[in-house]
Amino acid sequence: MKILVTGGAGYIGSHTVVELLNANHDVIVVDDFSNSNPKVLKYIKEITKKDFVFIEGSLLDKALLDNIFKNNKIDVVIHFAGYKAVGESVKKPLMYYDNNLISTIYLLEIMEKYKVYNLAFSSSATVYGTPKKLPITENMTLHTTNPYGTTKLMIETILNDLKKSNEKWSIALLRYFNPIGAHESGLIGEEPNGIPNNLMPYIVEVASGKLKELKIFGNDYDTKDGTGVRDYIHVVDLAKGHVSAINYVNNNVGVEAFNLGTGIGYSVLDIVKSFERVNNVTIPYKIVERRPGDIAECYADVTKAKKMLDWSAEKTIDDMCRDAYQFILKNKD
Ligand code: WQD
Repeated sequence: MKILVTGGAGYIGSHTVVELLNANHDVIVVDDFSNSNPKVLKYIKEITKKDFVFIEGSLLDKALLDNIFKNNKIDVVIHFAGYKAVGESVKKPLMYYDNNLISTIYLLEIMEKYKVYNLAFSSSATVYGTPKKLPITENMTLHTTNPYGTTKLMIETILNDLKKSNEKWSIALLRYFNPIGAHESGLIGEEPNGIPNNLMPYIVEVASGKLKELKIFGNDYDTKDGTGVRDYIHVVDLAKGHVSAINYVNNNVGVEAFNLGTGIGYSVLDIVKSFERVNNVTIPYKIVERRPGDIAECYADVTKAKKMLDWSAEKTIDDMCRDAYQFILKNKD
């Protein structure tokens, strides 16, 4: 199939493009490099030995979008493009609402114009807010605690309304838990701008000597060892979940949400210990106060994706720790 991938040069996007090419799909990537690096395109070709079409630009450029659909018969769209930093969204809510919502509405308008009704949307477990029970199932109540998460929830609402207006829409809402790790080649991985907000990129920079020590945000949560528990999923497993999702939307109609996680919760200290053991390094850390907005524990019930997408995560926490470190070792200069 011919797949349009918005934000395909990004962390999850680039890993997904690799798996789409490996599955012999034709791929068109559109990206404005606002949170990604052009070198990734070369690495995708090196990894897969396959070519794809790349168009530089923003989804806010409606003429550009129109041309893409006018010149290509697209079967499915995977929509990654969007700002995704929780902390930044709290400081700059309008930037997030403007970029994430308007660009998605333009994309959907053009899809409708060219009768392309198959979509996999990059959503997030952040739409569950503070879960009332665990593991989290897709039918649990949704609420958000930051503008980034709210843009994801708003887009899910828009997509549900769209489907009610036209039965032809076939949409998968892919709710990612905590993607970490990198492709085994070490050529592509997570490269946050500036000081990393997320746990694994921070640990990796401590391990490579770029940062002095990890600050663990609180060890007084009601969890196994007091530190925060999350459902970490290898980014390659997540990418493969998208290949399953486009097959699903191409053969069904309606809107379905899917948890893309492992179903296993690991604490911050679990991750630190695994990382140290697998990579034979020491991660100095200091317990500090809780980070505002953090929840204690979050992990997925993954039975729906297994049943309906015939997909489940296969890589272990050791694979995630090993691949994350290998990427930075190969790219630290
Ligand atoms: C994980 C755990 C922290 C950094 C966020 C977004 C979510 C999604 C994934 C986009 C928590 C602890 C972290 C550090 C720490 N992004 N931690 N020291 O907050 O679960 O999810 O990223 O979709 O929307 O909310 O991920 O990696 O920031 O934190 O102790 O320097 O690690 O308290 O328990 P989070 P995270």
